[in-house]
Amino acid sequence: MTAPRPIDLRSDTVTRPSPAMRRAMAEAPVGDDVLDGDPTTRRLERRVAELLGQDDALFFPSGTQANQTGIALLTRPGTELVVEANAHLVHYELAGVAANWGVQIRPVATPDGRLTGELVRGALRPASPHVPRVGAVAAENTHNAAGGQVMAPAVMAGIVAAARQAQLPVHLDGARLWNAAAALGVPLAQLARGAATVMVSFSKGLGCPVGSCLAFAATHRALAWEIRKRLGGGMRQSGILAAAALYALDCNLGRLPEDHENAKLLAERLSDCPTIRPSAPETNIVMLDLVREADTADDVVPRLAQAGVLVVPFGARRLRAVTHLDVSREDVERAAEVIARLLA
Ligand SMILES: Cc1ncc(COP(=O)(O)O)c(C=O)c1O
Repeated sequence: MTAPRPIDLRSDTVTRPSPAMRRAMAEAPVGDDVLDGDPTTRRLERRVAELLGQDDALFFPSGTQANQTGIALLTRPGTELVVEANAHLVHYELAGVAANWGVQIRPVATPDGRLTGELVRGALRPASPHVPRVGAVAAENTHNAAGGQVMAPAVMAGIVAAARQAQLPVHLDGARLWNAAAALGVPLAQLARGAATVMVSFSKGLGCPVGSCLAFAATHRALAWEIRKRLGGGMRQSGILAAAALYALDCNLGRLPEDHENAKLLAERLSDCPTIRPSAPETNIVMLDLVREADTADDVVPRLAQAGVLVVPFGARRLRAVTHLDVSREDVERAAEVIARLLA
């Protein structure tokens, strides 16, 4: 007898392209995007730019490469990037802004991951020949390490205003901006307003195998293209991948509230379990804090995997569970039962 399929809540990046998405990919008109353009990639870039209220966009193989390109466009070597202390750009891009661009991270500590205009103002030192200049400010929406937390348009506007006052551009890491827009019920462009560069990712909640876009003002396109090529991100018949993203915008964007409902359901089902404290999810990420000293993430994660539920450690006594299009409501109910039983 084969073991049942594990319920994979490690990340929303684990989704597999559906048969319909694969068909859209197979049928996409393509060209050589590095040589003289790929029609499907260009269609995606134009659509994403319009959705984000920007002039133009460029397709990238990954969110990391698009984030890095955004920071390169907005900063110079020897400057600082003001960014929330637990942002993806700080912890999960292998010190990319330092290694690639000679940019120093200026982390802004927050109690809960919520960057504000006030905090940005507080991080900006008075100009002096003895301290580094700031090159740019970066925001993240939703905030991954803070449990998929949503940044409201008014908060983003405050950050943009604080940056503008200091004549600084803002980069928005919107890998999960789709989730923020779905949770708030506002257009994507409203969440990106005032940002000079905006990254969005297709390989997370939207279920694509690969791909991100960086959106910006028309004047940035030529240099963004050069930087992407220098980073090895020039892709040839990329329409195969862009077609998956176009399919996802048509067919998967509208179902994100389902993932948010499932995350809430998981947290609710575990709320009575005395050994675990679930976060109150705003989107598709639930943080699960282990209450007993004896339960460590390193110990619990493999035991859960053996019981058929995959999550990732996110701190010594914290687990992260992410809902996505390859887990159903029934899967989430079963996962909650397994977690509660194992930690009883
Ligand atoms: C907030 C955020 N930004 C950027 C990225 C990087 O995306 P990629 O894995 O496509 O490089 C991720 C990936 O998880 C993310 O969560």
